[in-house]
Amino acid sequence: MASHPLIRTAVFPVAGRGTRFLPATKASPKEMLPIVDKPLIQYAAEEALKAGATHLVFVTGSSKRAIEDHFDTDHELEAALEAQGKHDLLDALRGILPREASAIYIRQPAPLGLGHAVLCARPVVGNEPFYVHLADDLIDAEVPCLAQMAAQFAVHGASLLGVQTVSPSETDKYGIVASTPVSERLSKVSQIVEKPKPDKAPSTLAVVGRYILTPAIFSKLEHIGRGAGGEIQLTDGIAALLADEAVYAYAFEGRRFDCGSKLGYLEATVEYGLKHPTLGAPFAAWLKTALSGMPKTPGA
Ligand code: G1P
Repeated sequence: MASHPLIRTAVFPVAGRGTRFLPATKASPKEMLPIVDKPLIQYAAEEALKAGATHLVFVTGSSKRAIEDHFDTDHELEAALEAQGKHDLLDALRGILPREASAIYIRQPAPLGLGHAVLCARPVVGNEPFYVHLADDLIDAEVPCLAQMAAQFAVHGASLLGVQTVSPSETDKYGIVASTPVSERLSKVSQIVEKPKPDKAPSTLAVVGRYILTPAIFSKLEHIGRGAGGEIQLTDGIAALLADEAVYAYAFEGRRFDCGSKLGYLEATVEYGLKHPTLGAPFAAWLKTALSGMPKTPGA
């Protein structure tokens, strides 16, 4: 039996404009970009649901209505599919949000940063530990990353950050932690810095978009000022939390795709395409032919 409370709430900060994917994201949220046949935000919701969350809290901004529509029932579409006997598609639609789960939307009034977005969720989260999931970071894992972290939370009852080692040249894209090992995948965080230049980084252990946070983070986020990039950073809130509570870094099992970058997005599309139950084999065959026809990159 878990000795710490189960986590029921997952917060999805989805207010960012996704400028790296313009013009695709001009009128449609970046979280609605599909990987094969499901939008990124659905992969995110599925991961949180599999980790036991039942309250899905989306912190939205302008041009994000499509996310609400995605998790809402479309009675007209369902009736049309029913009439056409397209039961597989109907099941796929009805499975987006299981009955026992609820989707809650909070508007972030201004783009003040990830820390501010998380703080906006406070009235819904209340005084309980919660997940934060960044949909840009797609993680393919046998046991969903948040579920792996929930298992650690059940033992330690403290905040946890999903981490992976990045190349030294990339530290300025991530929150970077310094930590001391506890077990094979777990370490205790002693320092965390947002997007340090490689020569200032305490390590190459980077936080990717998975967090379990205790509610004590909220009062920290309330009081920290603007940090890197002039934004209220979640990383700075976690740094303040370190003074009062233990925070752990967890090197999850699985492969992460940075779907906030075009290359990472393409990689995810190919990998998930290859694994797709019906498309995988024909896609692999096509890919082989396409690649064999490609000119060799000099020096590769
Ligand atoms: C955010 C966080 C950063 C974290 C990253 C993971 O940055 O601020 O600490 O390492 O997500 O993807 P962003 O990618 O939104 O700039």
